[in-house]
Amino acid sequence: MYSSPCTILAIESSCDDTSAAIIKDGIMLSNIVATQEIHRKYGGVVPELASRAHQQNIVPVVLAALENANIVKNDLKAVAYTQGPGLLGSLLVGCSFAKSLSLALSIPLIAVDHMQAHVLAHFIEDPKPVFPFLCLTVSGGHTQIVLVESALRMKVIGRTIDDAVGEAFDKSAKMLNLPYPGGPLVDKLAQTGNPLAYKFSKTQVEGLNFSFSGIKTSILYFLKANIAIDPDFIQKNLADICASIQSALINMLVEKLIKAVDQTGIKQVAIAGGVSANSGLRTRMQSLAFEKGLEVFIPKLEYCTDNAGMIAMAAHFKFQEGIFEDLNSGPNPRLNSFV
Ligand code: KG4
Ligand code: ZN
Repeated sequence: MYSSPCTILAIESSCDDTSAAIIKDGIMLSNIVATQEIHRKYGGVVPELASRAHQQNIVPVVLAALENANIVKNDLKAVAYTQGPGLLGSLLVGCSFAKSLSLALSIPLIAVDHMQAHVLAHFIEDPKPVFPFLCLTVSGGHTQIVLVESALRMKVIGRTIDDAVGEAFDKSAKMLNLPYPGGPLVDKLAQTGNPLAYKFSKTQVEGLNFSFSGIKTSILYFLKANIAIDPDFIQKNLADICASIQSALINMLVEKLIKAVDQTGIKQVAIAGGVSANSGLRTRMQSLAFEKGLEVFIPKLEYCTDNAGMIAMAAHFKFQEGIFEDLNSGPNPRLNSFV
């Protein structure tokens, strides 16, 4: 266990956000995120454009992180980067930058698993969960129930067998002609809609696993059938449709989370990842705490979607354990560090 004072620069570049953060002895000093707007006009992330935008953003974003933390690069004791999972071209930019800095400053290099970092975002601010706890990790590429035994030992006890819930939000938004990324827009529109207005059929999956492909198809057929009767069906009922979709997706998540609580007997439950920014899910988690006697942990909005702060927090834990990478380390789009 390393207890020497430590200032770490962390870089996150797994998808379409270029981000850099500085953490000192476990305290976050800065967390800068540059979101790439270029993908909006294509209705989704274009990998080649994402890596080019990372190349343009990375130096200004790192400089802003140093400046906001009021430190210079020679104060750094380690540099961390997201190793995966993510888009290869995007990951390569963060990895190459971190390796160059590690070599130039002769400081250790730390590689971080993006999905573990989403979970560890809960240790940035109080209240912090105590191990073991359950974390529903919901993002654009993943939907998992994670049994978090310690900062670096996590077990996935439930996962999606097809699409991620974030993808279900985004694809539903696309069917409703909303711009990318649709998840936050569905959330916003749902706030004035009736969640009981429409019902969608979904695929039942055994155990703690999820499936979102069935409900996606059900939403598509529902819209097609109604548009055939009234071409303005979407425009006239947008808020109710969004509220009904959101409610159905949240029900699917919460049903399995309750099952995981019952199976494990663990009463501390967290949510993490981009979809944990969803206002409906956040409210539902608060009611669940009351109904089921759970202690619920909901991250601050800035730590839900992709950010380097969470990478810095994970790097802090790795630094304490002396877990470093050599310069042969590289990105791994399919990285899975869960036991
Ligand atoms: O964790 P994240 O930023 O990136 C990945 O690692 O995938 O998650 C992005 C996902 C997208 O699917 C986005 O639509 C969804 O999180 N998302 C939301 C909300 N904010 C972001 N989904 C529903 N409601 C929101 N408020
Ligand atoms: Zn993410």
